[in-house]
Amino acid sequence: MTKKPFPLDKVYTLIEPGPILMVTTRFGNRPNIMTMSWHTMIDFLPPLVGLVIGDQSHTFRALKATGECVINIPTAPLIKKAVRCGNVSGRSVDKFKAFRLTPVKAAEVKAPMIGECCASLECRTVDQGMAERYNLFILEVVKAWADSRIKNPRMIHHRGKDLFAISGKTLRIASGMK
Ligand SMILES: Cc1cc2nc3c(=O)[nH]c(=O)nc-3n(C[C@H](O)[C@H](O)[C@H](O)COP(=O)(O)O)c2cc1C
Repeated sequence: MTKKPFPLDKVYTLIEPGPILMVTTRFGNRPNIMTMSWHTMIDFLPPLVGLVIGDQSHTFRALKATGECVINIPTAPLIKKAVRCGNVSGRSVDKFKAFRLTPVKAAEVKAPMIGECCASLECRTVDQGMAERYNLFILEVVKAWADSRIKNPRMIHHRGKDLFAISGKTLRIASGMK
């Protein structure tokens, strides 16, 4: 075996959690965007998603208070803006203005979609019971939007610290899943 012991504080860099997301909220009159990578699908239908959102963030407060957000999926051309949205807080910066992103009215929730993202999922929290203990919000996707022209989205994956990977080739292999 060529594996060596690996530091526990870097374990997160080994488990690829999926593409980074840009979560939008609206708290009072203030629209906001946060970038996040710790998330998981939980169920097919209704689609349930789990998001881990740090309790120091403006997004945590907004989501707790309003129970609504939009999960926006950025692709490669948005990488710099997505990272910058993850380095400042909506408490002090209007990120839509600062990073020239377009808020688009959603159908079911008050939080805006991001026009530039290839897909947007309007969500409501269904369980905040684990938010205090694990910063984990369980959300139901109540309306979904996707750009059907993009057949092979080049999504952005965070591999820890300053490392990112972009989704590559799409393969079709019989998976046995219905
Ligand atoms: C690539 C990347 C991934 C991140 N992933 C998460 C995450 O999974 N959960 C989280 O709470 N914060 C994550 N962050 C940090 C938040 O985006 C950051 O704290 C942000 O400033 C919060 O914004 P807000 O205060 O406007 O909500 C990530 C940041 C970057 C750059």
